[in-house]
Amino acid sequence: MSKICVLGLGYIGLPTALLFANNGHEVVGVDVNRRVVDILKTGKMPFEEKGFQELLDSALEKKAFRAESFVEEADVFLVAVPTPFDSEMRMADLKYVISACEMIVPHLRKGNLVIIESTIPPKTCDRQVKQILENSGLKMCEDFCVSHCPERAIPGNTLHEMVYNDRVIGGVNEKSTQLTADLYSSFVKGDLHLTTSTTAEMIKLMENTSRDVNIALANEFAQIADDYGINVWEAIEIANKHPRVNILKPGPGVGGHCIAIDPWFLTENANNSSLIMMSRQINDSMPQYVLKMVKKMVAGIENPTITVFGVAYKGDIADTRATPAKKFIKLAEKEGCKVKIYDPFVREWCYPIMGLEEAVEGSDCIVVLTDHSEFREMDPRELYGKMPGLNIFDSRNVINEELWGKAGFNVRNIGKK
Ligand SMILES: NC(=O)c1ccc[n+]([C@@H]2O[C@H](COP(=O)([O-])OP(=O)(O)OC[C@H]3O[C@@H](n4cnc5c(N)ncnc54)[C@H](O)[C@@H]3O)[C@@H](O)[C@H]2O)c1
Repeated sequence: MSKICVLGLGYIGLPTALLFANNGHEVVGVDVNRRVVDILKTGKMPFEEKGFQELLDSALEKKAFRAESFVEEADVFLVAVPTPFDSEMRMADLKYVISACEMIVPHLRKGNLVIIESTIPPKTCDRQVKQILENSGLKMCEDFCVSHCPERAIPGNTLHEMVYNDRVIGGVNEKSTQLTADLYSSFVKGDLHLTTSTTAEMIKLMENTSRDVNIALANEFAQIADDYGINVWEAIEIANKHPRVNILKPGPGVGGHCIAIDPWFLTENANNSSLIMMSRQINDSMPQYVLKMVKKMVAGIENPTITVFGVAYKGDIADTRATPAKKFIKLAEKEGCKVKIYDPFVREWCYPIMGLEEAVEGSDCIVVLTDHSEFREMDPRELYGKMPGLNIFDSRNVINEELWGKAGFNVRNIGKK
């Protein structure tokens, strides 16, 4: 059994802390946000996700987890703080990782292991993390170990993926890698892939960058298909029957705080990254493209009312981080549109979220931006008499087009004339 101090009790740090606590370790969770600590002290989760509350209940019952505001001595320190994107510099903003490491320094002892789970650019463990932790007077590799264990779980299914996904574990030396692998094997049922810290840093970024580049390719195919008047969705489906082809889906842009951001962490210090940067540009320009198509549908209507269906960055979750819906709405408002929003998952956002009836009342066009299952199953006859303009633009290819068409709607889609 190890005593583990987890810094950062968000979407990643908290479930990780609870998994360790439920699998034989003593865990102290530390967060600089007082509200998070206070809520956890009452035995409640600060946010909702499938299975989290039960995991917290059982960790508390075992007396294996407590939330605190201050770091304390431990065998292992695990850092799971945010690594936001500095949009001005187009690089990773490491201020939270740096401050977390600084908080560890006074408590660092010989034999300790420090694990960084936060997404970080290549060489961060070898350079910044080492430099800060050595302010303790101890030497990395000789006195303490450091490794990077990137998190790749998907919101909405975090717990299952944390346990069953393979893990990449990269230490600054072999001892660091082995100690970290031994620790994670207490709850991870997937394979553990052991490597160096810099390779692990690179792998996480490569995975998300590869998705971003492939989505950009799908978005470019969709725009070419629009020019030729063919159905890109049908074309992709047929092309993907080839055993060595796997084209992703086009859409209104890329969101979430990984895929849209991680490519920049890879390019910040690289000379040869034009494909990655171009892909970012393509994906970032998709809200404009969707708006251009929507404007064609409502041409002739002065200051049209547009109803956005879905602002979460992906289907059936409430996560709006870096959602392309925000850019679409801002651009639409700039162009004089009145925007109303319906999202069955998101309760609070920077724009008001309405009920379905209120959102479609007086609307000239619905624009589907998220692939929530509810939109797949929605019967358009529910909306009769509420919308003066029967238009729907489906940027996710989710609605039942035949049904909407039969109900009198003018239906359009990305890459599908
Ligand atoms: N959420 C995901 O789906 C996901 C997936 C893969 C990787 N990641 C990466 O994991 C890391 C954490 O992401 P997250 O989604 O859990 O973030 P989050 O914003 O949900 O939570 C981070 C927490 O860290 C706390 N914090 C900030 N500085 C701190 C400090 N010095 N000491 C203690 N607590 C501190 C914040 O108050 C917050 O509660 C990021 O690098 C992210 O890129 C996230």
